[in-house]
Amino acid sequence: MAAAKVLAVFVTLMVIFCEVSFSTKDGSCYKELKEPLPNHIVTKPPHQKLNPSVIPDSFDWRDVNNTYFVSPVTNQFLPSPCGCCWAHAAVGALTDRMMIATQAKRSIVPLSPQVLLDCADPDLGSCHGGSALGAYKFIFKNGITDITCSPFMGVDSFYWAEVPCNETMCRTCDRFGKCSFIKGPTYFISEYGTVTGEDQMKAEVFARGPIACSVYAHSAAFEEYTGGVIHDPVQYNSTTHVVAVTGWGTDEKTGMKYWIGRNSFGTAWGEDGWFKLQRGVNALDIEKHTCAWAVPKM
Ligand SMILES: *[C@@H]1O[C@H](CO)[C@@H](O)[C@H](O)[C@H]1NC(C)=O
Ligand SMILES: *[C@@H]1O[C@H](CO)[C@@H](O)[C@H](O)[C@H]1NC(C)=O
Ligand SMILES: *[C@@H]1O[C@H](CO)[C@@H](O)[C@H](O)[C@H]1NC(C)=O
Repeated sequence: MAAAKVLAVFVTLMVIFCEVSFSTKDGSCYKELKEPLPNHIVTKPPHQKLNPSVIPDSFDWRDVNNTYFVSPVTNQFLPSPCGCCWAHAAVGALTDRMMIATQAKRSIVPLSPQVLLDCADPDLGSCHGGSALGAYKFIFKNGITDITCSPFMGVDSFYWAEVPCNETMCRTCDRFGKCSFIKGPTYFISEYGTVTGEDQMKAEVFARGPIACSVYAHSAAFEEYTGGVIHDPVQYNSTTHVVAVTGWGTDEKTGMKYWIGRNSFGTAWGEDGWFKLQRGVNALDIEKHTCAWAVPKM
């Protein structure tokens, strides 16, 4: 059995090295689900129970009570370009929520977007696009491991030979070069769902942590963004890309309201990988489209 697994790892690595990825920065990495997914909601969502007056005018999980509650910026294009913003945004927001749940007092290793590429049904997501809600549906059922035992490779490899997917989420190699699947910490969520629009988004982010939202990203304002508040007056009617929204604020000089978000284009893009996007006017279609949230089981 162990030998079969070692062989499976070897075969898959060969497949990975030979695979050609067609996804590029110009491709759309957000894909609408064929059928809407049912949410799995157990507790009353914050936007239904919070008094709006408790929600502050500005809020940023990068600095709440002098604590940095968010996970690092990632790059979906290295080591191989992959249209999996949906996976980076979903596991990024979930990792943030684990940091929040532990009061950032415990080491939280970022969760693995690669697990989703390896194991999730391609209808939920792949290197050719996917959905953050689909990612949460997968994690709810199967759990997910972290990047120390399933590093990001930027390829779809949902076929680790004959080994069942739930046993491929974690692997390691020894100092003699022998690699095998192992059992590692696996993280689950207790519920997941969606919010839409400025008020629901703010209540959810404030009460429970970052969310994964989609935007129309094939706009120069987004693609060529280097800093400040992204402002694009065109009313887009669709979205192409998924990002994690971690807070909001208002520009002191111009009075423009904005969202704060983390992208997955590496730290060379935007403000060290982060962005601000005009808020309240459906900029890049962010507020008319659903955002996904999930509650980690701690
Ligand atoms: C920040 O501090 C306030 C006031 O003590 C507290 O109510 C709140 O729960 C804290 N937030 C977090 C995320 O720890
Ligand atoms: C994977 O799933 C199979 C069948 O559902 C189960 O028997 C097995 O114990 C699971 N393995 C792990 C590592 O969870
Ligand atoms: C979005 O839809 C509106 C109303 O139908 C239309 O006026 C607008 O041109 C559309 N925007 C784009 C970018 O296609």
